[in-house]
Amino acid sequence: MKNRILSGMRPTGPLHLGHLFGALKSWVKLQDQYDCFFMIADWHAMMSEYEDPSRLSRFTIECAADWIACGIDPEKNAIFMQSHVKEHLELYMVFSNFVPLGWLERCPTYKEQLREITTRELHTYAFLGYPVLQAADILLYKANVVPVGQDQLPHIELTNDIASKFNNLYSGSIFHDIKPYFTKEAKLLGLDGRKMSKSYDNFIALGDSEATIKKKCMTMFTDPERIKLSDKGHPDKCNLRSYYNIFTPERASEVDEYCTKALLGCTECKKKLGGIISDYLSDIRHKREALLKDEDKIHAILEKGAVKAKKVASETMAEVKKAIGMF
Ligand code: TRP
Ligand code: SF4
Repeated sequence: MKNRILSGMRPTGPLHLGHLFGALKSWVKLQDQYDCFFMIADWHAMMSEYEDPSRLSRFTIECAADWIACGIDPEKNAIFMQSHVKEHLELYMVFSNFVPLGWLERCPTYKEQLREITTRELHTYAFLGYPVLQAADILLYKANVVPVGQDQLPHIELTNDIASKFNNLYSGSIFHDIKPYFTKEAKLLGLDGRKMSKSYDNFIALGDSEATIKKKCMTMFTDPERIKLSDKGHPDKCNLRSYYNIFTPERASEVDEYCTKALLGCTECKKKLGGIISDYLSDIRHKREALLKDEDKIHAILEKGAVKAKKVASETMAEVKKAIGMF
């Protein structure tokens, strides 16, 4: 039997280049070696979007289309929605009984989100329990490996703590240790030089049109010392240079040359990059558009994924119930 992977994304906005290079490219590679469960974490999304959840279903459909367009094969893997497999909430409840408040209150991601997200009221009961639901997601499938960004490490550690506390309390050996697999393929900052993120509105979405991509590139952060065309540039201080490195590494030295010798202006350089990114994404863009024309098919894929997921999830839940003495 192949080792298992579970990973997920929250459908809180459009997927962007950060998701492509930060996760999806690794998922595509991993899908051949592992038995993969790729989950759209709609309950987790609800924890922050509960005031206006009306867009979550749209983002869910688009998320599935984006994954498939990027090369995640729905035949090989289970692509499913968390809310379709009710065992996630059941296991979350089992864990909630014994997870000490301190573990959650101390969690660095929790503290950071409360500090940084000011547009939403996140001092809620559910949001504190976010990592408990994530642990249930992972342990339900007895995943061996969990591909995540570095920022998720505290949640993986908590998952292992929760698993071993469960095993100790109920003298079980149902859960084993899981390993994170850090997924970053390439370092890609947002348009403004900060982390690429939906909340900073500094991203290029996988579904952005050519015109939008070009317009967004014009707003990119460049070498602040290069003001006039005749100023010699410093590619190492310019965000565009790192994009060139990822999208057309073979042209990176050409950029260095015209930049450091002031042979070409930043405006031209941005226009070129816009064209390059748009070409790079065109295949994904066309595939996602085609997929989104037939939403019934996406629903069917999610249903089929839920059936595959449910099969494993219900087996684990049966073992758990037996261990805690519930029938
Ligand atoms: N917390 C993850 C994120 O924000 C999403 C997620 C939910 C997840 N459940 C998961 C990731 C289980 C990996 C495994 O990126
Ligand atoms: Fe950046 Fe290009 Fe301008 Fe050089 S020419 S500073 S690489 S935008």
